[in-house]
Amino acid sequence: MKQYNIAVIPGDGIGKEVVPVTLDVLNHAAELFGDVSFHFTEFPWGCDYYLEHGEMMPEDGIEQLEKFDAILLGAVGDPERVPDHISLWGLLIKIRGGMDQSLNIRPAKHFKGLESPLANPRDFDIMVVRENSEGEYSEVGGRIHKGQDEMAIQNAVFTRKASERAIRYGFKLASERRGKLTSATKSNGIVHSMPFWDEIFAEISKEHPEIKANKNHIDALAAFFVSKPQDFDVIVASNLFGDILTDIGGAIMGSIGIAPAANLNMTGDHPSMFEPVHGSAPDIFGKGIANPIGQIWTAKMMLDHFGETKMADSILTAVEETTEAGVKTGDIGGRSTTIEVANEVCKRMKV
Ligand code: NAI
Ligand code: MG
Repeated sequence: MKQYNIAVIPGDGIGKEVVPVTLDVLNHAAELFGDVSFHFTEFPWGCDYYLEHGEMMPEDGIEQLEKFDAILLGAVGDPERVPDHISLWGLLIKIRGGMDQSLNIRPAKHFKGLESPLANPRDFDIMVVRENSEGEYSEVGGRIHKGQDEMAIQNAVFTRKASERAIRYGFKLASERRGKLTSATKSNGIVHSMPFWDEIFAEISKEHPEIKANKNHIDALAAFFVSKPQDFDVIVASNLFGDILTDIGGAIMGSIGIAPAANLNMTGDHPSMFEPVHGSAPDIFGKGIANPIGQIWTAKMMLDHFGETKMADSILTAVEETTEAGVKTGDIGGRSTTIEVANEVCKRMKV
């Protein structure tokens, strides 16, 4: 039997509510399928840990995580007691950077039983691959002439290595899905980096004649996410473009409480990390009403990453059936609790 060793960091706020029920869902799936098992090791890192120890995680935190197959994270942040820049940089950003998690993957999917703000969402199902290590988010640049004619220069950095890595992953994902890949560009306005990105995309396209590859300028693409999201399968984008697109993707799905994300390490040298898009939601923490779907869906992405796609699909199908049956938390118009939703998902899961 295959065993997966998973580092679990519930973190703060509703992370402590949605993570435990997600582990129940995973254990239930393992029992049902019978050919894998999960071994969870929980780490109490986060803001409580910070208030006690003066750091969000121990010095050797990254080292402790290295030996795991993946990291499942809830949410981090306790803004009343710990400034957000400390909680964010002391844990999340440290892990993403320290483990070379260079791609961020986020699905946007029309979810059955959930109201999209689009009048006619027509079953869109998109996966956005965002380059997450460079691009527009770089520290290269600076400011001069402070207090006079001040100026700032912010340089975007595009390496062949990181661009190829993201684009190649886009093609791989497209080949496992519906065979269509769209590159987000802006080579009409940004005259150095984006033509470079386009060139690499065109080169790699030639290696994949079976994939329907095309490019769209990011402004048009943002509009298409609203006007015809059903036209897209996989999208590959630079850091900034991917950041913006994934927020639109989350918005057209209907709730932040269901949106998942994955931070992938592409070298295989470090574990990848799976976390929902939402934060610790201090406004609802302790009431047992947090929507667990974002967390459960990110666990599903973890299973996809392991290659356990059957189990992964059965979880997502059960989640959709649960929502469709009206077993939903308040943020998406229902009255059920976190635990009730997770139990219903377990009940509906099928081999
Ligand atoms: P948030 O995502 O925690 O909450 C925004 C709103 O959405 C709140 O009204 C909340 O109740 C609701 N919400 C979020 N997730 C939900 C769920 N699963 N079910 C039902 N409702 C849900 O964002 P906010 O309020 O800006 O940040 C709160 C704290 O979380 C801050 O400390 C922030 O830094 C941190 N944060 C952490 C993130 C992470 O760990 N990846 C991401 C975003 C924020
Ligand atoms: Mg964003």
